[in-house]
This record gives sequence, structure tokens and C-alpha cells, in this order.
Amino acid sequence: MAAKLMHALRYDSYGEGVDGLKDVEVPIPSPKNGEVLIKLEATSINPVDWKTQKGMLRPLFPLRFPHIPCTDVAGEVLEIGAGVKNFKVGDKVVALLSHFKGGGLAEYAVAKESLTVQRPCEVSTAEGAGLPVAGLTAHQAITKSAEIKLDGSCKQKNILITAASGGVGHYAVQLAKLGNAHVTATCGARNIELVKSLGADEVLDYRTPDGAALNSPSGRKYDTVINCTTNIPWKTFEPNLSENGKVIDVSPGPSSIMTFVVKKFTCSKKQLVPLLLIPKKENLDYLVELVKEGKLKTIIDSKHPLSQAKDAWTRSVSGHATGKIIVEP
Ligand SMILES: NC(=O)c1ccc[n+]([C@@H]2O[C@H](COP(=O)([O-])OP(=O)(O)OC[C@H]3O[C@@H](n4cnc5c(N)ncnc54)[C@H](OP(=O)(O)O)[C@@H]3O)[C@@H](O)[C@H]2O)c1
Repeated sequence: MAAKLMHALRYDSYGEGVDGLKDVEVPIPSPKNGEVLIKLEATSINPVDWKTQKGMLRPLFPLRFPHIPCTDVAGEVLEIGAGVKNFKVGDKVVALLSHFKGGGLAEYAVAKESLTVQRPCEVSTAEGAGLPVAGLTAHQAITKSAEIKLDGSCKQKNILITAASGGVGHYAVQLAKLGNAHVTATCGARNIELVKSLGADEVLDYRTPDGAALNSPSGRKYDTVINCTTNIPWKTFEPNLSENGKVIDVSPGPSSIMTFVVKKFTCSKKQLVPLLLIPKKENLDYLVELVKEGKLKTIIDSKHPLSQAKDAWTRSVSGHATGKIIVEP
């Protein structure tokens, strides 16, 4: 019997940009052991998706061509694979797909049960799809790297969050505030009021001299910087850090890896620490619960039908999204 087909966007090689994304009809994947098949209702795009296409993560990602990009999805369980215990057909879910295999820019995708969580009806598909990579990265940065307890029970820390209007940054601001941190944030002028509304105590326009220098308007030194930009050198962070302050670099490039090594080997009190997301199902569950309780918001930059997913891709590549970019199959 012929396999049922679905629409998807995929690319065949590194480096062709948005033009490399081809509309295709391919067989609907089948869930294997420990996997569920999801009828997708929303997918969010992350910078890592187009960085992967550029070849910035080769040879690890993608594992093979052709590749259907994107990993952050919400939808309805249509079929369950052998051994799946916690889901049934018809469940509404949020999932983080395998970074090796992708699959999110499509009508259907398979997800591991181990990175799939239930989506309560109070959380929309777009709000849910925004969470996996950006929300989990913000959660790991705030709770593990900055060591902030989200019940607000630890001593108040001064945190700087750069690119607070972006996917990771807007979640990080809200989580840091749940943890009772004093938050200084940077973003473009157009997003200052939005970032304040998310809870930031002081907000700097990154295109002004004080914003570019990361100077806290209240004169604070930062215990931790969650750096969600790619272009700020160590010499700009250093004078703004408290005695044992550290910079958590969410997009570590060669120069920040070098700074990490130098600071480590010289036992510097001020450190730069690269962050690599280690996704955990219980943390995704927790974030979905926070959204349900109204304690965490997903800001939606824009929504695009799957047929116009190239516009969403181009928007992400521009680096000027406010919150999350959503594709709706
Ligand atoms: N290590 C990991 O595992 C991991 C996980 C997730 C993400 N990441 C990385 O983290 C970075 C951030 O991801 P994202 O999803 O948050 O990106 P994003 O949503 O594309 O960020 C866009 C936002 O950044 C703002 N921005 C750009 N440059 C800025 C600057 N110099 N100062 C302040 N704001 C600035 C833009 O504001 P304007 O429009 O006003 O310019 C825009 O609102 C990416 O490099 C991504 O690859 C890494």
C-alpha cells in the first residue's frame, strides 16, 4: 500500500539559505519504539535551525540530508509507538524533536516520549511551541548557571540579560524575576516597554553609548550576565561584573571559548562560561505549567502558515524577532 504523504520544507545541502528550502511531499513518518507521531499545530523557529543549515554545527547536525529543519513543536498525538506509556491518541502535547533528525517544518513529526509533555488547554499551541529550545535554555541559564531558585528563596542577585527581546532573553527575564533577581536588560528602543512589562527593573537601548557599554543605570555590578547576543567582547563585560561575576554565553564562538579557557586556567574570579542546552522533560513540563498558571508568557513575534514558512525563516535569520516566530501547518 502506498504511504500517506505530507507537506514539508526540507533542504538538501549546507549553505543555500532560504532558497535551499524546498516544498516537498514526503511520507508521513512512523513512530518507532518510545516515539509518538504528532499532527503538528505549531512549530517555532530558532536561530540554531538556520545556523545548522549554514553548516555552523557540521558534521554533527544535521545527521544526514535531505533534512526537514526545526525541533520545537506542539500538536496532537496521532499514533503511539511500542513501549510508549504516558501518552494516548488524541493527547495535546508540546515536544522537542531530535536535533539530529529535525522534522518540525512539516504537517506531522515523530517525537521521543522522553522529550514530549502534555499541553493543557490553557496553553495555546503557539505558546507551547515557543518553549522547548528557547525556554529550556533560559531555564538552564537562570537555574543552573546563575544558580537562582525560582521560588525566590535565595539572596537577591544582580543579573544582566542581553537581547532580552529575543526568544531566549524574554523567557530569561521572566524566570529571573520569579527568582527575585534584580534584572537589567538590553534590547532595541522599540522593545523597551515590552521588556519592562516582562518584569525587567532597568532596560538599556543597546544602540546608545550606555547600552553598548552595558552600564547599569542604578550603578550595579552584575553577579551574572546571561548573554544572548553574539557580538559583545569580554572587555565590555569585565568592568561591569561583581567581584566573582560570571558571563554565561548562550552563543559561544571561538573568542568566548578562548576567554573561557584563559579565565579557567588563570583561576580568575571573573569567569565566562559557555552554555550548551541539555534538555530535560521535567523542565519542559515545569515551563508549560508556568504558562498555564500565567507566570510565564510566550511573546509571539509573528505567525506564518507552513506554505509561507520561508518568510518565517527569513525573519529568524534577520535577527530582529521580538519573542518567538511561529509556523502553523
Ligand atoms: N547554547 C545553546 O544551547 C543555545 C540555545 C538556544 C539559543 N542559543 C543561541 O542564543 C542566541 C539567542 O537566541 P534567540 O532565539 O533569543 O535569538 P533571537 O530571538 O533571534 O534574538 C533576536 C533579538 O535579539 C535582539 N538583539 C540583537 N542584537 C542585540 C544586541 N547587541 N543587544 C541587545 N539585543 C539585541 C534583537 O533586537 P532588535 O531587533 O532590536 O535588534 C531581537 O529582538 C542565538 O545565537 C542562538 O543560536 C543557544
